[in-house]
Amino acid sequence: MTLPLDFEPRRRSLLPGTAAAANGSKLDQREAVLEAAGAASALGSDVSDVTMTINGTQQTLSVDNRVTLLDALREHLRLTGTKKGCDHGQCGACTVSVNGRRINSCLSLAVMHEGDEVTTIEGIGTPDNLDPMQAAFIEHDGFQCGYCTPGQICSARAVLEEIKAGIPSHVTGDVTAPIALSDAEIRERMSGNICRCGAYSNILAAINQVAEEQA
Ligand code: FES
Ligand code: FES
Repeated sequence: MTLPLDFEPRRRSLLPGTAAAANGSKLDQREAVLEAAGAASALGSDVSDVTMTINGTQQTLSVDNRVTLLDALREHLRLTGTKKGCDHGQCGACTVSVNGRRINSCLSLAVMHEGDEVTTIEGIGTPDNLDPMQAAFIEHDGFQCGYCTPGQICSARAVLEEIKAGIPSHVTGDVTAPIALSDAEIRERMSGNICRCGAYSNILAAINQVAEEQA
């Protein structure tokens, strides 16, 4: 394509102007970051104290404000039962209970949990005193490598509580009636917990067994 005769000079003059503008914008960004960093340090430290009750024991941690609850549990408290799979809310390996509700601990900052009650897999049962869900997972071979298992068990316990509490899911038919336990309900509610070993059918059997025991 032939450029209009008078276009080329304007284009040449435009390029240095664009570069200067881009450079100027980078400088502006850098100044903004430095300003924000200055403001942050003027506001105080990047480290905060947070007190939580973890598995029944009150703990106070000094953590960088950017540390997730997952990393606080694993790196600060050495509670490595809670697993890091994806670290961005996709796999459910990091599921723990906070104030009775399951959450992905990789998506939550530790400093957001002042005063909260956190239960991890370590607080659910021990090898000598298994939680019924842990026992059912063993009985039904609900795992192979076991990496997803702590998250699966924390979620599975919460699923039964959610159904009892009448919290509907995407597959619940009549949301005004008591929720009937079904494979579809369990599968839907466990869909945030990925198992790359594919132990899903055995996990389902384990959850059904515990639900029947609790009925
Ligand atoms: S590690 Fe949190 S969802 Fe995967
Ligand atoms: S048992 Fe291996 S990922 Fe679930």
